[in-house]
Amino acid sequence: MRDKIIFYLNGERQEIDAKDAFTSLSTYLRDDLGKTGTKVVCAEGDCGACTVLVANRKNIEEGKLVYKSLNSCITFLHLMDLHSIITVEGIAEKDKLHPVQESMMVNHGAQCGYCTPGFICAMAGMTDNLKLKEKPIDEKTTKNYLTGNLCRCTGYDSIIKSSLAVKLEEVKPLYERYHSDEMLEEFKDLENEDVVLKNNDRQIFLPSRIDDALKLKKEETLLKCTSGATDLGVQINKGRHEMTKVLSLYRVQEMSKIEKKGQEFHIGATATWHDIEKALKNDIPEYSKLIHIFASPQIKNAGTLVGNIANASPIADGTPFLFISEAKVILSSTDGERTVPVTNFYKGYKDLDLKENELITKVIIPIPPKDHFLKLYKVSLRKDMDISAVTFAGLGNIENGKIKSIKIAYGGVGPVVKRLPKTEKLLSGKEWNEKNIGEAVLQVEKEITPISDVRGSAKFRTQVSKNLLMKYYREIQSQYGIEQGK
Ligand SMILES: Cc1cc2nc3c(=O)[nH]c(=O)nc-3n(C[C@H](O)[C@H](O)[C@H](O)COP(=O)(O)OP(=O)(O)OC[C@H]3O[C@@H](n4cnc5c(N)ncnc54)[C@H](O)[C@@H]3O)c2cc1C
Ligand code: FES
Ligand code: FES
Repeated sequence: MRDKIIFYLNGERQEIDAKDAFTSLSTYLRDDLGKTGTKVVCAEGDCGACTVLVANRKNIEEGKLVYKSLNSCITFLHLMDLHSIITVEGIAEKDKLHPVQESMMVNHGAQCGYCTPGFICAMAGMTDNLKLKEKPIDEKTTKNYLTGNLCRCTGYDSIIKSSLAVKLEEVKPLYERYHSDEMLEEFKDLENEDVVLKNNDRQIFLPSRIDDALKLKKEETLLKCTSGATDLGVQINKGRHEMTKVLSLYRVQEMSKIEKKGQEFHIGATATWHDIEKALKNDIPEYSKLIHIFASPQIKNAGTLVGNIANASPIADGTPFLFISEAKVILSSTDGERTVPVTNFYKGYKDLDLKENELITKVIIPIPPKDHFLKLYKVSLRKDMDISAVTFAGLGNIENGKIKSIKIAYGGVGPVVKRLPKTEKLLSGKEWNEKNIGEAVLQVEKEITPISDVRGSAKFRTQVSKNLLMKYYREIQSQYGIEQGK
């Protein structure tokens, strides 16, 4: 049993004891180490000013440790065990600027200085990834990698221009510069070792096996578990939640697996959105497309589907699809396993069918049949990095111009995500045409109970919900042109 967190920072080994383990990475960098290159602006994971690059043994590709961007303001040190971290101070090689830094300078991409270190880190992560995959830098890729980095002053033109001007052949990748056999050997040697950090009334448990995690959940009272901590990190920074006893699951290797078994995906509790987006791309492309516009790369590199489910927000983007695909959550405890359909898992607002001694260990998602029509919509003020006002999921089985069956779910229209059984029933067996969908649209209004809040009035949400069902019909029609009898 170890009582210290170990990580490497810009190639230097660090040990953190219980006293500092609850500190955010950004505070540690700035206040404890004086590495003030990393900036903190929002402290909520929204702006990317605090972006650093991190990797652990799960991020080994082609034998290389491939670095991913992360928001250091909502990442606590206990989440960094056996990671290699690179901050903006580690991007340049001694006195020689990284090509990304050089380009930001020459092309006037460094406009304010506050957001710049975050942009530099995200861009250096991008150039490493592209170099490894032998892909060029283009505008679309740049925008994707920089979704989580906001400029509030001038605009993105010079920043994008800077990115496009980087010559990949001049980039000496971080995965080579910071490669260390010794570090990787140490990570491997220590990955099966449990870590427990205790300081006064604060305790953190970092088990490496599922059985130990379940035992802790049984024995320790008031234990709050975390996966990626992207929800919890924000709550802590806002003072809404105090972490006193934490069960951190990211070191449990078997929980990070994503497996395709027959016509199902089995997704472990700590599998990140980034990995899920990649894994489901061919079999459930519509869900991958939705994940693509979920949060930012920084959040998707840490956050998980299971965290999204357990956080139980009615506007969580990940859940409406689970309702119509009839996904199941696997709840484990020392007493055994329970399998609960996602549709039964929510008993009310933030009220889950989850016992005190249980953890969600897995989600099982049936792959929708290829000839069924799946559409997932997210309505928010901005396309990227915004919280939804309303979400929609529709899965129709349409044969010979008739609706054999249809499943419809909405988020943001009640205390929990909601299937619409009456609307589904009304449409079943009917002809697939605008008149019948129009009648169903009127039924939608009777089955939802939206409220007014900062993201939209109840009236707006009702109208949007009705429009989304019609959008579902029209999009499928324009894509597939379904005709009666065919
Ligand atoms: C800037 C920003 C942007 C975001 N954008 C989006 C967005 O576009 N769409 C969206 O839906 N969400 C968004 N989120 C919310 C968040 O990122 C997601 O909900 C994410 O999926 C949470 O996963 P996590 O692993 O970080 O959860 P955590 O923060 O680790 O945990 C969340 C909750 O789940 C519980 N929990 C975690 N693991 C388990 C388990 N195995 N068993 C039981 N309970 C568990 C925790 O105790 C906690 O209550 C955003 C958050 C931020 C900060
Ligand atoms: S300071 Fe804004 S994301 Fe961390
Ligand atoms: S360049 Fe920093 S906020 Fe615009």
